[in-house]
Amino acid sequence: MDEDIIELMKKRWTARKFKTKEVDEDDLEIILEAGRWSPSGGNKQPWELIVIKDEKTKLDIAELYAEGMGMSNPPERYTSPPVLIAVCVDKRVMDSYPDMMPAEFVVYASIGSMVQNMSLAAASLGITLSWGTQPEGIKEEVKELLEVPDYMELPDILQLGYPDQERYSSSRRELAEFVHYDKIDVSRLREI
Ligand SMILES: Cc1cc2nc3c(=O)[nH]c(=O)nc-3n(C[C@H](O)[C@H](O)[C@H](O)COP(=O)(O)O)c2cc1C
Repeated sequence: MDEDIIELMKKRWTARKFKTKEVDEDDLEIILEAGRWSPSGGNKQPWELIVIKDEKTKLDIAELYAEGMGMSNPPERYTSPPVLIAVCVDKRVMDSYPDMMPAEFVVYASIGSMVQNMSLAAASLGITLSWGTQPEGIKEEVKELLEVPDYMELPDILQLGYPDQERYSSSRRELAEFVHYDKIDVSRLREI
């Protein structure tokens, strides 16, 4: 085992406030390359990524996000990071799995694995990559803004850059709380 991998995973975190400091092009390429090498169901690689650096486009995204979330101002998390990455899912890939397979799960799990690969590569470079789930109500408007065709979804716009905030504490459930052996032990399940 690579001794440092768990440390790298703990180093990754989600910032919500970013400096405007640029991300080096070589670093961006490494992060995208990490995404490229993610596993995906049937190796179908159902993703398309839009790298966004244009200030007006970032502001348009922030304004739509504010509209979708009922916020009065466009959030800085979409205007201040030097790079946003819109994650697009090509839904046509879902039709290419056999009918008995849960295609939606496979496609979105593949997307998650790609974002995590990019997050870890970013963390190893001292860069933060944060998720930004897009509210349902503005989905079509965001797609239109970025000229994403109907047969694609755009579930997330990632923010990439250097945090302009202290890291907050973020805990995880203990292994003993969620790992079960042989059968699930419902008496240990948490209240939700
Ligand atoms: C699929 C997914 C969607 C997320 N969407 C958002 C989001 O819309 N806004 C946000 O602030 N954080 C979002 N997050 C970040 C989580 O809130 C964060 O990972 C979690 O609180 C743990 O904190 P950490 O990443 O700093 O360790 C998302 C994370 C994942 C994996």
